[in-house]
Amino acid sequence: MTSPLKKIPVARVARGMYVHKICGNWLDHPFWRGSFLVEDETTLATLRALGNQEVWIDTDKGLDLPSSPIRAPSAPAPAPAPAAVEQEPEPPRTVFGNDVARAEELRDRAKAAAKALFHDARMGRALQMETAASIVDEVDEAIARNPAAMLSVLRLKNKDDYTYLHSVAVAALMMALGRRLGYEGVALKELGLAGLLHDIGKVGVPDAVLNKPGKLNPLELTSVRQHPQIGWDILRREVAAGPVALDVCLHHHEKTDGSGYPEKLAGNSISRAARMGAICDVYDAITSDRPYKRGWEPAEAIRRMAEWQDGHFDRDIFHTFVKLIGIYPTGTLVRLASDRLAVVLVQGEGSSLKPVVRLICALPDREPLEPETLDLHESDDRIVEIEDPVAWGIHIPRVLRE
Ligand SMILES: [Fe+2]
Ligand SMILES: [Fe+2]
Repeated sequence: MTSPLKKIPVARVARGMYVHKICGNWLDHPFWRGSFLVEDETTLATLRALGNQEVWIDTDKGLDLPSSPIRAPSAPAPAPAPAAVEQEPEPPRTVFGNDVARAEELRDRAKAAAKALFHDARMGRALQMETAASIVDEVDEAIARNPAAMLSVLRLKNKDDYTYLHSVAVAALMMALGRRLGYEGVALKELGLAGLLHDIGKVGVPDAVLNKPGKLNPLELTSVRQHPQIGWDILRREVAAGPVALDVCLHHHEKTDGSGYPEKLAGNSISRAARMGAICDVYDAITSDRPYKRGWEPAEAIRRMAEWQDGHFDRDIFHTFVKLIGIYPTGTLVRLASDRLAVVLVQGEGSSLKPVVRLICALPDREPLEPETLDLHESDDRIVEIEDPVAWGIHIPRVLRE
């Protein structure tokens, strides 16, 4: 497959092209954010002012160069033109980057499978449980290999994907958490399947209500709160769904203080699987971008959930969950005491305050650093602050994929 990236002289850039990268030191440019769509004449003029410079364009995200005019067969063969357009070679990836790329490929297939499950449920047809089981197997393998890579890929969703990717993400979180709690084999897969199917009852709630910005009125709230029961009714017809999926589907909105729904169960009368489901479900929901609200950064989500834990979540399971995700979860942009910006890759061996990070740049001048991996557990350096990647113009998925 050819890369969508092409290197072209700045003079050949046109409106509608998507600039992936400006060659040279991008920090010297007014376009220091790196990637952008050339939408107006001002942007084009500023780009052209770079003179002899070259840029990489991404032809998947914007216009390509116009193709050369077709010559009549009788015309003399043109002299070979100097190669003005170069394909960027695939950059060598780190082991982590490789796992992220594999996880992205699996995410896309898993999303399609979840979409098919929801479609069948909407049509009142039998669910394709074999496909569901094989997706659960693959996600489990990915979680076993590199949980941080798989979970970070599943956190990023756009609004159209939300319902399907949320199902896959909760499946992955359930299995990652289950491994930490000692589940294995079939019991682990049952948790994964339960995560994948937990919100299947949302097919019975109007989209306008599910995606409504702002507060729901009492009628809409009642409608949303029916999805566990609707899901349970759907799954009851599927022998292969099994009792764990039925239970998690019906009880993932119960709270330990008895204030949840639909049955207002409290404490240990909520099964362990459903208590796990409640934590994974809330974490994924609040870290995802929704049509009406930007998702919280994982670190912020963990902090807020810790505030709610009494009454909402099972304390012991939540503590295991925090160890899994980390105080500084994968993909968090942090500032180090050495005044360098870095992105968290994985949780380290020791304290959750000292993860393994990848260095990005040195402050205050944003001087790019070799993308070195630093284990804070083994270093004198430490995290002093969480930073907003949007404010710094840093595209976290791209950093993780390197
Ligand atoms: Fe739900
Ligand atoms: Fe959910």
